[in-house]
Amino acid sequence: MKVALTGFRGTGKTSVGRILANSLGLPFFDTDALVEQLVGMPIPEIFRQHGEAGFRALEREVIASLWDVEGVISTGGGAVMDPANVADLRRHGRVYLLSAAPEIIVERIAGSNRPGLTDLSPAEEVRTLLAQRKKAYIGAADTCID
Ligand code: S3P
Repeated sequence: MKVALTGFRGTGKTSVGRILANSLGLPFFDTDALVEQLVGMPIPEIFRQHGEAGFRALEREVIASLWDVEGVISTGGGAVMDPANVADLRRHGRVYLLSAAPEIIVERIAGSNRPGLTDLSPAEEVRTLLAQRKKAYIGAADTCID
C-alpha cells in the first residue's frame, strides 16, 4: 500500500504521516528529510546555496525515487506544484490532502526555520500561496481532510 500526504506547511503531514505509518505497520518517508539526507544539508542551507529551483530539483528526484514504495509518504508543501511529482505520488497510491485554516497555519509555522518563499509577511505569504496552490492541491488529491 502507498499513501501520500500533501498540503500546506503546518497541516500535520509529518505528524499524521508518522502516526499512520506506525498504525499501518508501514515504513514512513518524509520527502523534506530525504532531500536533506541526499545533499547532507538542512533545507535553509539548500535554499541559500541553490535557491528554490535547486531545492525543487532535489525534491523532484526524491519523489521520483519513491514512486513504487510501500509506505506512507509525507511531502513538502510545494511538491504538488510539479505535475511530475503528482503523477509519481498517485501511481499505485492514494493521495490525501490535509488542510487547515490560514490563521491556524500561521500560528503553527511561526518560528519554523523553513525559508520564506516570497517577500511577503508570514500571514500574507500563507494566504497568497494557499490561493495560488489551491487548484494543484485539490487536483492532486483523492481525498481531502480538514
Ligand atoms: C515548502 C514547504 C516545506 C519545504 C520547503 C518548501 C513549500 O515543507 O518543502 O521549505 O513550498 O511550501 P513542509 O510543508 O514540510 O514544511
